[in-house]
Amino acid sequence: MMLPTMVKQKDNGVDFIVLGGGIAGMRAAIELSRGGRVLVLTKDDVYESSTEYAQGGIAAAISEDDEVTLHLHDTLLAGDGLCREEAVRVLVEEGPVQIHQLIDWGMRFDRNGTKLAFTREGAHSRSRILHAHGDSTGSEILRALMARARTIHSIKLLPHTFATELAMEDGKVCGVTYIDAKTSESTHVPARAVLLATGGLGHVYKETTNPSVACGDGMAMAYRAGAILSDMEFVQFHPTALFVKGAPRFLLSEALRGEGAILRNLLLERFMPRYHEAAELAPRDVVARAIIMEMHKTRAECVYLDLTGLNPDHVKKRFPRIFSTCLQYNIDISADLVPIRPAAHYSMGGVATDLMGATSLPGLFAAGEVAATGVHGANRLASNSLLEGLVFGARSATAMLNHHVSTPFPSPKPNPHAETVPVAAAPQAATLPCDPQKAVEEARAILWDNVGIIRDGKHLAGAVRRLTELALAGAPELSRASYEACNILTVAPLIARCALAREESRGAHYRSDFPLKNETHPPRHSYVTKVFPPFFA
Ligand code: FAD
Ligand code: SIN
Repeated sequence: MMLPTMVKQKDNGVDFIVLGGGIAGMRAAIELSRGGRVLVLTKDDVYESSTEYAQGGIAAAISEDDEVTLHLHDTLLAGDGLCREEAVRVLVEEGPVQIHQLIDWGMRFDRNGTKLAFTREGAHSRSRILHAHGDSTGSEILRALMARARTIHSIKLLPHTFATELAMEDGKVCGVTYIDAKTSESTHVPARAVLLATGGLGHVYKETTNPSVACGDGMAMAYRAGAILSDMEFVQFHPTALFVKGAPRFLLSEALRGEGAILRNLLLERFMPRYHEAAELAPRDVVARAIIMEMHKTRAECVYLDLTGLNPDHVKKRFPRIFSTCLQYNIDISADLVPIRPAAHYSMGGVATDLMGATSLPGLFAAGEVAATGVHGANRLASNSLLEGLVFGARSATAMLNHHVSTPFPSPKPNPHAETVPVAAAPQAATLPCDPQKAVEEARAILWDNVGIIRDGKHLAGAVRRLTELALAGAPELSRASYEACNILTVAPLIARCALAREESRGAHYRSDFPLKNETHPPRHSYVTKVFPPFFA
C-alpha cells in the first residue's frame, strides 16, 4: 500500500487497533488482550466520551421480579417493528453475564443495603436499570474498565490521537492513519484487524446532549472506505435536555421521570397523559414529539420538568450530578420548574454489522453506538446502549480473535424510487468546502431544522440538496478540527438522504407527509454505501 509522503509508517504495528475508549472500546480491548498487542486510540482525553457522561444507568433483567423475556419484549416494542430479534436476544441474554463480570472487576453499582438497587425508565415494564453514584453510571463503568485495562500490559492507550482514515489493502482493512495532537504528525499503524468504537454523531445536530467528541467520525471513515451503513435516518432525540440559552444542552435523565417527575407546558398543564397511556414513561420518540407539539401549541421555546412532588432530600441524594449542574444555572431542581426541550441524543443507525460485530469490509469490526447491530430498531429503549457496548464490545473482540468472517449483508441494489433528488457522487476521500467551520454550522442548523423530530419530504429534499453542496471540494488539512468538519459534512447528508428515502413514520423517524407505518411489506432496514444511494432490505 502506498502512503502519502507526509505519513510516518510505524514499522512494528500491533495485532489489534481499537478506535475509541468508551464502554465498547474498553470492553473489547480487555478481551482482545488475550490474543496479542492492542492499541486503543482516543481522540481526546481517555475519559472524554458519551460513556463518561451516561447518567440513568444500564438495563439488565437481573432483579428477582424480572425476566430476560420481558426485557426482550420491551426492547422489541420500543424498536417499533424494526429490531433484529436475534440481536436483541443476544443483548438481553448475555447482558446479565457481562454485568456480573463488570462487578467482579470492581464496578460499584448503587445498592439498597447489600442488594443491587434498580430504577425504572420509559417503556420498561420492570424496574431494571442499575445505576452508580446516583446519576453517574457511565463514569463509574469507565473507571472500572480503565482500572482493569491498566493492569494488562499488552493494552496500550494513546489519548489525543485522532484517527483520520482506515488503511486498505486488497479490499481488506489493515490498519489506521492517525494524527498525534502533540506533534501534529500523521502516522500509519498496521494491524490484523480494526475495531471501530468511536461512538455517536450528536454533533451533526445544532442541539445535542452529546460531548464534543461525537462527530460521526467512525461512520464517515467506514463510509469512505466502502462499508455498508444502515438505518442512518433513525436518530433518537432525548426529550429532556436543559434549555438555558447559550448553555450546552445538559441531559436531565429519564430516571427523573422514572422516579416521579412530570412534564408541564407553558400553561403549567400536565400534558403527557393526553398523548400516551404510560404518560411521562412513554417511549422516548412519543415524549419528544409530544413536547414539540406542546411547544408549538403554546408558542413556547420549552416545556418544564416538575420534580416538586418528590422529596427534595431524595432528589438531591439520588441525582447529585444533575442537582449540582442545574444549580450552576440558578435552578434548584427540587424546588423550581426546570426548562427543558428535546435534543439529539443517540444514533440507532451506523456501520452495519452482523451479530459478531463484523462489518461488510474484511478486517473491520464495529461495536457500540457507531455500529448498527439492529438491536435498537427504530427507537432505542432507555439504558440499552451501555448494555449494547458491553455485550457487543466483548463479542466483536471474540470475533476478531477468531478470524470471524462476516455473514453476508444485503447486496446493494438501486431503487429507482428511493432518491428523487439528484445528489452529487459520494466523496471517494475526505473532502472539505472552503470555509469548513461555517459549512459545519450551516449543516448542523439544517439537520436540526429539517431532519429533526418532525420531518417532511419538501424540507428533507431541500436539506439533501444543500448538504450535498456543502460537502464538496477541497482536501482537509492535517488537523482534528478539519477532519471533524469533513466527517460531519459526510454524515449529515447521509442522515438526510436516508430520511428522505423512508416514506413512512416509524419510531424516531416521523414524517408528517407519511404519518403511518408502511404495512404493505415487512419492516425493512435502510442501507447506503458510497456507490449506492439508500436502498431497503
Ligand atoms: P463513546 O463512549 O462515545 O466513546 C467514543 C470513543 O471514541 C471516545 O473515546 C472518543 O475519543 C473516540 N473517538 C471518536 N472518534 C475518534 C477518532 N476519529 N479517533 C480516535 N478516537 C475517536 N446510554 C445508556 O444506556 N444509559 C444511560 O444512562 C445513558 N446516558 C447518556 C447520557 C448522555 C449525556 C449521553 C450523551 C449518552 C447517554 N447514553 C446512555 C448513551 C451512551 O452513553 C452511549 O451510547 C455509549 O456510551 C456509547 O459508547 P461507545 O463506547 O460506543 O462510545
Ligand atoms: C438517561 O439517563 O435518560 C439517558 C439514558 C439513555 O440514554 O439510555
